[in-house]
Amino acid sequence: MNLFDVYPVQDVTITKAQGAYVWDDKGNKYLDLYGGHAVISIGHTHPHYVTKLNDQLSRIGFYSNSIKMPLQEELATKLGKVSGKEDYQLFLCNSGAEANENALKLASFHNGRKKIVAFKGAFHGRTSLAVAVTNNPAIVAPVNETENVVFLPFNDEAALETYFAEHGDEISSVIIEGIQGVAGIHEASVSFLKNIRRLCDQHGSVFIADSVQCGYGRSGQFFSHDYSGVQADIYTMAKGMGNGFPIGGIIIAPHIKPKYGMLGTTFGGNHLACAAAIAVLDVIANEKLIANAAHMGDYLMTELKKFPQLGNVRGRGLMIGFDVPETHKDLKKNLLTKHRIFTGEAKPNVIRLLPSLALKKEEADIFLAALSLELNS
Ligand SMILES: Cc1ncc(COP(=O)(O)O)c(C=O)c1O
Repeated sequence: MNLFDVYPVQDVTITKAQGAYVWDDKGNKYLDLYGGHAVISIGHTHPHYVTKLNDQLSRIGFYSNSIKMPLQEELATKLGKVSGKEDYQLFLCNSGAEANENALKLASFHNGRKKIVAFKGAFHGRTSLAVAVTNNPAIVAPVNETENVVFLPFNDEAALETYFAEHGDEISSVIIEGIQGVAGIHEASVSFLKNIRRLCDQHGSVFIADSVQCGYGRSGQFFSHDYSGVQADIYTMAKGMGNGFPIGGIIIAPHIKPKYGMLGTTFGGNHLACAAAIAVLDVIANEKLIANAAHMGDYLMTELKKFPQLGNVRGRGLMIGFDVPETHKDLKKNLLTKHRIFTGEAKPNVIRLLPSLALKKEEADIFLAALSLELNS
């Protein structure tokens, strides 16, 4: 049997990982500033994480949501503390798309409405509603097309105001990434997020903060939307939550009430996934990784802005993007093949840095030195 060929892949086979580094099957060592697409939050194979998962696996890996799960409660308590949203309610699932799917569905159950406002450039996942609110027609199958979704220009307050003035009482939810990732690192402005909050309050719509990529401490705050000082009604999470173990979730403001059967999942919130997510939160808290992400992000941004060849260095914390000039269009490839550094990208010419939140200065300096060699050659 062949694999269904949907991924263009790099010619590297990774067989081992530790901290900020991965090794290939030939023993070559690579610096990982991509984190498997913003997934590695606490560093690869962190000893506390490995121990927690091993211990859990040797006791029980899985049972369904039909029994009591103290691990889910422990996770909710820790998540409430680290995120500062202790009065929110947690629903667990398995991925980012599923988190958004559940959030959009819950919003619609809550206010009985159908219309969703999303934004140009948005990426929210590939399942039916999640892809319908994703602004990329190439990945929307005919069966996913719906007239319930409108895409407004990102950070355009006048367009938002006008749409709410005309359709406000039909809008079920507004979904927005605090920092658009797939689109190439574009931050929602503080006043835009404040306006979304105000208009949602005025019209009874639900504010959904997609924090799948920009959340979990990556921006230097637990949720990147926190910079605006507003609270969303639902936050969606995945990537960094399990440091590679598949787990996603939504946290839900107290005014949205649950009902038996409203949401559900077989695998979501299983014992192993909870053990992984608890280990991640332990490490984030004990090693002060959110502060480290803020600090290292500032350092990297300051240093990157010193390269005149790079355009529009942007981002927050360890979610950084910059435009690569046409003269250096092979930069990402060269960083990988010549310097053994993994970075991310966004089309057409953006390099995205999404390292673990535990990145150290000496690791950032290895990247900056390689970048300097490439840009000045
Ligand atoms: C902002 C955002 N939302 C949702 C998703 C979908 O997550 P998953 O691939 O886990 O379904 C992604 C994935 O890249 C994302 O970046």
